[in-house]
Amino acid sequence: MENRTTDTDMTLTNRQGHPISDNQNIRTVGNRGPSTLENYHYIEKISHFDRERIPERVVHARGAGAHGYFEAYGKVGDEPVAKYTRAKLFQEAGKRTPVFVRFSSVVHGGHSPETFRDPRGFATKFYTEDGNWDLVGNNLKIFFIRDPLKFPDMVHAFRPDPVTNLSNPERMFDFVSNSPEATHMVTFVFSPWGIPANYRQMQGSGVNTYKWVNKDGEAVLVKYHWEPLKQGMKNLTQKEAEMIQAKNTSHATQDLYEAIERGDYPEWELCVQIMSDDEHPELDFDPLDPTKLWDHERFPFLRVGKMVLNKNPENYFAEVEQSAFGTGVLVDGLDFSDDKLLQGRTFSYSDTQRYRVGTNYLQLPINAPKTHVATNQRDGQMTLIVDRAPGQNPHVNYEPSSLGGLKEAAPSGKEHQPSYNASLVREKINRTNDFAQAGDTYRKFEDWERDELISNLVDALSVCKPHIQQKMIEYFTQADSDYGRRVSEGLAKAKMEMEMEHMGSKSAQEGAEAADHSGQR
Ligand code: HEM
Repeated sequence: MENRTTDTDMTLTNRQGHPISDNQNIRTVGNRGPSTLENYHYIEKISHFDRERIPERVVHARGAGAHGYFEAYGKVGDEPVAKYTRAKLFQEAGKRTPVFVRFSSVVHGGHSPETFRDPRGFATKFYTEDGNWDLVGNNLKIFFIRDPLKFPDMVHAFRPDPVTNLSNPERMFDFVSNSPEATHMVTFVFSPWGIPANYRQMQGSGVNTYKWVNKDGEAVLVKYHWEPLKQGMKNLTQKEAEMIQAKNTSHATQDLYEAIERGDYPEWELCVQIMSDDEHPELDFDPLDPTKLWDHERFPFLRVGKMVLNKNPENYFAEVEQSAFGTGVLVDGLDFSDDKLLQGRTFSYSDTQRYRVGTNYLQLPINAPKTHVATNQRDGQMTLIVDRAPGQNPHVNYEPSSLGGLKEAAPSGKEHQPSYNASLVREKINRTNDFAQAGDTYRKFEDWERDELISNLVDALSVCKPHIQQKMIEYFTQADSDYGRRVSEGLAKAKMEMEMEHMGSKSAQEGAEAADHSGQR
């Protein structure tokens, strides 16, 4: 049917296409009411408004997004990329793939200040010719935990108290002091790296270990990293963040939007680190452990392409809020590793999106691939289109069929087929090594970063019970004796100051009471 709308037709209608001649007054019996129930226009308008909100993301609720493109270098470092992956988007130098990126903070709600100490999300959707690839990363290169079973508890502990709805660092440190694997991430998050200056001037990382697969079905382990180009990298001290927060709770959204509007497009280079696909017993960490960095010396950053963000969304809700990224969304030539956290995440994303956005969330323009899509999936709430190939017999919504239905694709290369021989268990990995890298990171910080780290940790830990403080000091000491000593001394000093303040206010109160009594006499 022809759409009657023309560029010049500005007539207001309802969703049924009825022109609206009065949008100021509901229909009433006399101009003082009562109103009647057949006010179709009013009821449609108000009941749509009543449903304007969908559930926010259970984590990463606060975010901003932008469109752009990824341009491949056709190489990985100095080698042809095809040696390691057959993924089409990387093969040719200069090949452009459209992208949409959503940046976010993690713990608090959709309107929380963007200055909070928190990892930042950095999720990229590549609309490739082979369908979508989502690289769902953070600004930091590691994570708090390595087992997905712990994720809901971790998020609860980082959130406000369920009774008072007040934030209290004791909840976080209660969890963390019972999860030694978090020591490395805590070291980053409480340093200035826990408050990037904005979304443009920060790195990104896939965190988890993935695989690249070539045309012969051979795999390597890879980690992905986004390195900011011309805009550089910048983190904030706690004081700087507080000063921004006093005036603006949306500084990062504003910074991104305004930079793109004025044509100052942010750019990142995509780099990978590569390891052969085995357990690497020579390393003191497991390559599948997301709490660990792969050191640059042995596993250099190899450049594969760059991304430019050059277009703001036209509508925040339709594009940013309804966007849906997931670690399961890979294209041919990219694969999962056995990283348990990655596998746990992969279930969680599309599960939450079927609830948060709806069964047909992949039909929305922001989430739909910009390539051939033909499935036999039908119906469900909010079906917008029938995912049918133009030549498909519309009666055949199943496969296999010889009556004009969809056919399976030809394989694009040899399948990667890892083989397994182990008992089914519930066990930690062997090489947990929870503290060594936290110590390395502590020593690599600049002096001002270490000073900030200690001061931020002392501030947060000073409200915690002594046994939680002790456990954390023990972890920091195992990472680096200077680290543990400085937190311990800082806490002792904070305790003394608190006691003196308490004594000071007590004697001031006693003085005031004495003065009061003398006045009565
Ligand atoms: C968002 C689960 C770990 C990065 C989400 C969402 C869920 C989730 C349910 C909301 C998605 C939505 O509503 O669309 C998990 C689980 C994890 C985990 C179960 C571990 C077991 C991680 C890690 C990273 C990460 C390690 C970083 C590499 C993100 C990002 C988003 C997100 C960037 C926001 C995506 C967007 O902008 O829409 N996560 N997550 N998550 N997660 Fe995770």
